[in-house]
Amino acid sequence: MKKLLPAQQRKLEKAARAAAKHSYSPYSLFPVGAAVLADSRKIYVGTNVENASYGLCNCAERTAIFSAIAAGERPLSCVVVYTPTQTATPPCGACRQVINEFGPKIPIIAVCDSDDRIETTLDALLPSAFGPQNLD
Ligand code: THU
Repeated sequence: MKKLLPAQQRKLEKAARAAAKHSYSPYSLFPVGAAVLADSRKIYVGTNVENASYGLCNCAERTAIFSAIAAGERPLSCVVVYTPTQTATPPCGACRQVINEFGPKIPIIAVCDSDDRIETTLDALLPSAFGPQNLD
């Protein structure tokens, strides 16, 4: 994994904030934005997309990851998530599992509308993960 530069991190955070503006979250009223840095250094964004059939709601992180994968990007280098809250929000369990598939040790950053932030890694958020190696 290439090192994440401070300027790159700021760019990712800005992209995640901007993506939240496109959130489709009329049921939860909880807009989320995500930005994924691919190994190529390109950024892919995503937002949460809800549905009247609630179980079909898709998180911002997974939307961003699926866009990156659809563009042929693997592996991923970093995931940033933004919520318009006073406390930073970590990725949900389903998103952790999906991140594990493409970046089992990558940095995960969560930012919000205060100075609160989470800077961690996927393996800290999802220790002993089930992954591709378990299917060997
Ligand atoms: N959500 C995300 O997009 N990412 C997270 O990490 C947590 C939750 C979305 C799903 C749903 O649309 C709304 O937030 C409330 O759970």
